Amino acid sequence: MTQAIAKPGKPAGPVLGIETSCDETGVAIFDPARVDPAHHDAGRGLLAHTLYSQIRMHADYGGVVPELASRDHVRKLLPLVRETLARANLTTADLGGVAYTSGPGLVGALLVGAAAARSLAWALGVPAIGVHHMEGHLLAPLLEADAPEPPFVALLVSGGHSMLIEVAAIGRYRLLGDTLDDAAGEAFDKTAKLMGLPYPGGPALAQLAEQGREGAFRFSRPMTDRPGLDFSFSGLKTQVLLAWQASDQSAQTQADIARAFEEAIVETLVIKCRRALAATGAKTLVIAGGVGANRRLRAQLAQAGEREGFRVAFPRLEFCTDNGAMIALAGSLRLAAGQHETPSIFVQPRWDLESLPALA
Ligand code: KG4
Ligand code: ZN
Repeated sequence: MTQAIAKPGKPAGPVLGIETSCDETGVAIFDPARVDPAHHDAGRGLLAHTLYSQIRMHADYGGVVPELASRDHVRKLLPLVRETLARANLTTADLGGVAYTSGPGLVGALLVGAAAARSLAWALGVPAIGVHHMEGHLLAPLLEADAPEPPFVALLVSGGHSMLIEVAAIGRYRLLGDTLDDAAGEAFDKTAKLMGLPYPGGPALAQLAEQGREGAFRFSRPMTDRPGLDFSFSGLKTQVLLAWQASDQSAQTQADIARAFEEAIVETLVIKCRRALAATGAKTLVIAGGVGANRRLRAQLAQAGEREGFRVAFPRLEFCTDNGAMIALAGSLRLAAGQHETPSIFVQPRWDLESLPALA
């Protein structure tokens, strides 16, 4: 059986974006017809977006429980699709394409989004496209006014990844540096947990760090004393554990340690970003992923950019963490380039970003 697609490739109308790779159900509608590429105003194409976070459900277990995540996506996805369509004043008949996260992520969670997206696209006779979750993050800053244009360097820092990527064009990605162990967000979460903070620890630790005193503790800046763009954050977690166990474990000490930990991660990321810019000659740095919401990181990178003459572009806070808007945008760009998928439903829990095809 072959899929009836009215116009293969190019979306003939707004694109529905679905994100279900982990613990957030995100849905958005992006209309490429509202965008003037010459004006870098992709944000105008975003007609509506909704998000349901499962955080409270997983908090009881101290982390994401994959099977519960899948089941909750099943419960929330279709109501969110309906709500998003209503907010955009559209019906399914208006859609010109469907984009969904097909990896990397939790396989059960990915399959919920993939099955819903592919079935909807099939029923509507419109093309569907599986989007790489990290490409979604990487393109999220393009939804802001005066969006950056490639070439640029992207720092992708999420719960699962810490990567520096050279972006020659949309779809042409070269991995410059990666984490050898924990991702930056994972290091935030694990460090928070070992000091007794509730899941998800990253944002809580960052908040606590604001009450910490400068210089009370100091942790190393891993792998900055040698050339290279890779990261390693798991040793930092051990340093925190030892400092915490040897301390009085008061609220002030907890905040002091949180501050020193955040400073160590942020300074390490800033050093590596500056190195990546120097190595590639790029003048623009794009930050994306959940840790991109970190205030100290945003401030320190903005300062470094002013001092050293490079531009720093961030997505708004809600588009740093997982969301449907970035998937709708990434999918819309790929559908517009004529890319779409065969009717088979597949997901890729592990997926190499560098293997993506270029747009042109
Ligand atoms: O991109 P994201 O929502 O999900 C993944 O694709 O992993 O990133 C979530 C990660 C979590 O590890 C969370 O602790 C971290 O981003 N995060 C933060 C902050 N907000 C979220 N880490 C540090 N400071 C924050 N303000
Ligand atoms: Zn993510």
